[in-house]
Amino acid sequence: MVKAIKFQSFGSPITAVERYAPPAIFFHWAVALLIVIAYAAVIAKGYLPKGSAPRALSMTIHEWAGIAVLILAVPRLLWRLVRGAPGALPGQGWPARFGSAAVHLLLYVFLFAQPVLGYLTLNAGGHGLTIPGLDMALPQFIDKDDELRRSIKDIHETLGSAFYWVIGLHALAALWHHYFRRDDTLRRML
Ligand code: HEM
Ligand code: HEM
Repeated sequence: MVKAIKFQSFGSPITAVERYAPPAIFFHWAVALLIVIAYAAVIAKGYLPKGSAPRALSMTIHEWAGIAVLILAVPRLLWRLVRGAPGALPGQGWPARFGSAAVHLLLYVFLFAQPVLGYLTLNAGGHGLTIPGLDMALPQFIDKDDELRRSIKDIHETLGSAFYWVIGLHALAALWHHYFRRDDTLRRML
């Protein structure tokens, strides 16, 4: 079970809780869900007929799920920097600690880089994004440039493919801790 440790400091008890704080847990699972939606929508798009309304809708879902990831990534990173995260659980050797820290860092970079690259792909294609239901567009940061669009889109797609593996590895590691090592790694993120 997840434990709370009490430290005695100058006579007043300080409670250091080993689990992630509720905002960190909320950010983690909300962002994970949005990423699943972004991937599912762009995969579905590939199966839908070119020029059809469902295909355009899939792409809109993809884009807005991705923008929501970016919007949540900002308070999430601030929370992480200011409030930190629980330390490694006892019994984890340096390779496990280093490996998980490296994967978490990569995931944080991805949360910012991937939506920005997606948005710049649109901009280089000559589009912004219009907020549905409102007559307002998000700003356009770069001018239309077909060659640049192809390069940014390539990076966005390559990163998208690579992160199937990184995210998969991360999720499998969590399940391995839970079912095989039977420790609190997953429980403290729930
Ligand atoms: C975490 C967020 C995101 C993830 C995981 C993601 C993932 C992907 C993946 C895997 C592809 C390649 C699909 C394929 O190979 O057919 C793709 C394509 C694309 N994404 Fe994203 N994306 C994200 C955010 C965004 C955002 C925020 C935008 C724009 C606002 C965007 C715009 C695009 C565009 C324009 C394409 C090219 C679609 C095409 O022309 O075939 N993406 N994305
Ligand atoms: C799109 C999917 C995901 C992303 C982007 C993601 C990202 C992250 C990041 C950045 C952290 C570090 C949190 C911090 O210290 O601030 C983290 C921790 C964690 N994630 Fe995920 N995650 C995803 C999916 C999952 C899934 C599917 C699982 C479970 C099966 C999972 C389980 C965990 C656990 C248990 C931790 C805490 C690890 C520890 O304390 O060492 N994550 N995740």
